[in-house]
Amino acid sequence: MYPLIRPRRLRTSEALRSLVRETIISPNDFLVPLFVVEGKGIKEEIPSMPNYYRLSLDNLTKEVKELWQMGLRSVLLFVKIPDNLKDNQGSEALNENGLMQLAIKTVKNACPDMLVMTDVALDPYSSYGHDGIVADGLILNDESVDVLTEMSVSHAKAGADFVAPSDMMDGRILSIREALEDEGYLNTGIMAYSAKYASAFYGPFRDALDSAPVDIKNVPKDKKTYQMDYANRFEAIRETQMDIDEGADIVMVKPGLCYLDIVREIKNEVDVPVAVYQVSGEYAMVKAAAEKGWLDHDAVMMEQLTAIKRAGANIIASYFAKDAVKLLG
Ligand code: PBG
Repeated sequence: MYPLIRPRRLRTSEALRSLVRETIISPNDFLVPLFVVEGKGIKEEIPSMPNYYRLSLDNLTKEVKELWQMGLRSVLLFVKIPDNLKDNQGSEALNENGLMQLAIKTVKNACPDMLVMTDVALDPYSSYGHDGIVADGLILNDESVDVLTEMSVSHAKAGADFVAPSDMMDGRILSIREALEDEGYLNTGIMAYSAKYASAFYGPFRDALDSAPVDIKNVPKDKKTYQMDYANRFEAIRETQMDIDEGADIVMVKPGLCYLDIVREIKNEVDVPVAVYQVSGEYAMVKAAAEKGWLDHDAVMMEQLTAIKRAGANIIASYFAKDAVKLLG
């Protein structure tokens, strides 16, 4: 009891603080999202995501080599599809020589040991900007699951190590798991976006991929009939438990910072690795405030990443991965 116990004693020097620090960020914590576009020599900055780029396949090769050099060993691939290849069924997603399939091969060629995860959802391929098939103002569940399942097998065939369904359709994990088993992809993992909330923080990502829901009659303007209501907590645990029962190897909570209560709760409930996605809007806010000189970019970035890990994240998908690793030295 005071004055015998003085907690401040453990904070007296940086050497001591680092000795007793509970949470340390390392390159192994990160999963690096990458945006891929058609063409050659393309490295275009995404206006709402400063210092983040869409890359053509040649530049993707350069990028993953650089990531590997820095100790970043896992990537999460997204593709931007030209409008003329989009339809309601997301048919282009199944093209064996489609952009995603080529991107997977490109990464594996450049860096054979890089862990490749792929986004599985229809929105980049959908003429309506939805994660599933649209009919009469609704998003069809089971029909969408069929396409997502074929899409997953196609990614596995192209060499993906993990598929990451971000669509929030019911039952898709079981369907994908069974199809991967049937096709002999026994070691292809599934990282399920299990507790994915209908969030306003995805705006810059939808700019990056041109994937926002379109504003036309009989097409839902938002994703609230499949992504979760951000007011809910128990539902997150239920969704996550279901995905594990259906065969998910890794589960995810998304977005990050506003949802760290959910991260901790899920971490306490489940015994598979938990990933957290620090999303585009979270990245954009820090960049914008730092540009104005209102926040210290590096300090805020590290505080946020450490908080995400402290909350229980085993894996952090973050656009800050490179910035953070550079800072770690
Ligand atoms: C869509 C998808 C989204 C993100 C990842 N996959 C956006 C959405 O659901 O509309 C968001 C990632 C980010 O904002 O960084 N399947």
